[in-house]
Amino acid sequence: MTVVIIDNYDSFTHNLAHRVAEGGRSFRVVRNNATLEEIGQPEGVTGLTPEELWDGSTVFPFNLYIHIPFCRQKCSFCYYSVAVVQDDTQVIWDYLRCLEKEARRYRPAVAGRKVETVFVGGGTPSRLDEEQIHFLFDRVIGQFDLSECREITYECSPDSATRDRIRVMAERGVNRLSMGVQSLDPEILRKSRRNDSPDEVVTTYDNMVASGVPNVNIDLIAGIEREAFDNMERTMDAVAALDPVPTQITLFTLSVREGSINRTTLRAEEPSDLFRRSLALYRYAKRRMAALGYWQYSRNLFPRDDWIFHYQDNHWGKNGYVLALGSSGYSHSHGYTYLNTFNYRQYMKKVEAGESAVEKHYPLTAEESLRRHLVLAMKHTELDIDTFHSFYPPGSRPLDRFDTAFAALEDLGIITRDERTIRYRPEYADLTDRFVRLFYSEEANGRIRGERRQDLHLVRRDAFGFTV
Ligand SMILES: C[S@@+](CC[C@H](N)C(=O)[O-])C[C@H]1O[C@@H](n2cnc3c(N)ncnc32)[C@H](O)[C@@H]1O
Ligand code: SF4
Repeated sequence: MTVVIIDNYDSFTHNLAHRVAEGGRSFRVVRNNATLEEIGQPEGVTGLTPEELWDGSTVFPFNLYIHIPFCRQKCSFCYYSVAVVQDDTQVIWDYLRCLEKEARRYRPAVAGRKVETVFVGGGTPSRLDEEQIHFLFDRVIGQFDLSECREITYECSPDSATRDRIRVMAERGVNRLSMGVQSLDPEILRKSRRNDSPDEVVTTYDNMVASGVPNVNIDLIAGIEREAFDNMERTMDAVAALDPVPTQITLFTLSVREGSINRTTLRAEEPSDLFRRSLALYRYAKRRMAALGYWQYSRNLFPRDDWIFHYQDNHWGKNGYVLALGSSGYSHSHGYTYLNTFNYRQYMKKVEAGESAVEKHYPLTAEESLRRHLVLAMKHTELDIDTFHSFYPPGSRPLDRFDTAFAALEDLGIITRDERTIRYRPEYADLTDRFVRLFYSEEANGRIRGERRQDLHLVRRDAFGFTV
């Protein structure tokens, strides 16, 4: 049986495809503007050099993503490809040297172009100790021109982000810290195999604030491990008690995907019940956040005041280029999206052998590039029409082509629009991922309808970005 996965142009598609393959099933990634002839063609394994992949991408600055896969434990809900290793292990150093080698490979291809944002993500980048963080900045990030960089995000877990490590991050220019909190209820933390108590999480948060890093985001997930209302209430009480409250909160609903431990333990609950439960908790948390001054920027991102998350804004809203280093990296350049080898050991093997880490590349036609831009932009609660059009030749107004889809969303009461803005109504802003399918080609949508088989259900829903 072949699993058909629709590409939403984000790293989640990539993640899912690999999980399906690891489970021994074959898969086909269908681009969202694919014609029937194109569907089913295997993507070529790349022979392209960094120069070819970045050819013609001279105009815009780009965004740098660096993947650090290491974690101390695998949390029950997590579907990321993570490497569970101990602190003192040699493999962390070996991996960092591979990152340096990969960065050097790209250096000539992006020479003269500036990095606008950096995102060090994982896994758990705060598993790097002070010396390793310095190495990352000196020898990996240091290969690129950061003279006009406006944001450096560093992802942390509460149990590994020590005060000394946070200090080094701040010294090296990190101006956005993002901590995976998930829950501040002791029962939920324990059941999901997290190492920390709520008090320890708060201590790490306080250290982050005290470090002077201006933008501190926390990630929360609604619905983990049969979470009930009182668990979420405890979490939101604890969030409200943080002083100051975070500048941003990223709030997810629980997504159950291939590769997570709870995929087995949660089988007893119907996916639709799980989704409704998570969404109800998410909406409760959202109301509590609104009372604390947060507003909704995209499906998951809730800033206070005007704290923008520039990396996401560039990537989703502004069609920005991304150069991703490390295992499972997902890049977007002028003519391609492309993917690095997913498994970190295989990634290292390739880089150590002097080979490219790129496993697959997908050329982007102009049509596909437009749909990609639109699909990602519509993940925000609001789309500025002039900004969108500023990326296309003057007068071409490509959004007009999608008028039928926008009119349908408007008739259903899902969006409102005027000359300047397309905006989700607040009650639908939580479901933005569901509506992007309207911007797929008829062929891609027809293919989905034609293959509606029970056993593909969960996987396909995931691929649409449905959080189940
Ligand atoms: C790559 S993780 C890095 C966070 C960090 N390693 C930690 O957990 O402390 C980024 C975020 O993805 C979110 N995430 C992971 N698994 C998820 C799931 N199954 N459903 C929804 N969000 C998830 C979590 O909120 C997590 O903080
Ligand atoms: S949630 Fe974070 S710490 Fe837990 S397994 Fe995933 S990446 Fe690692």
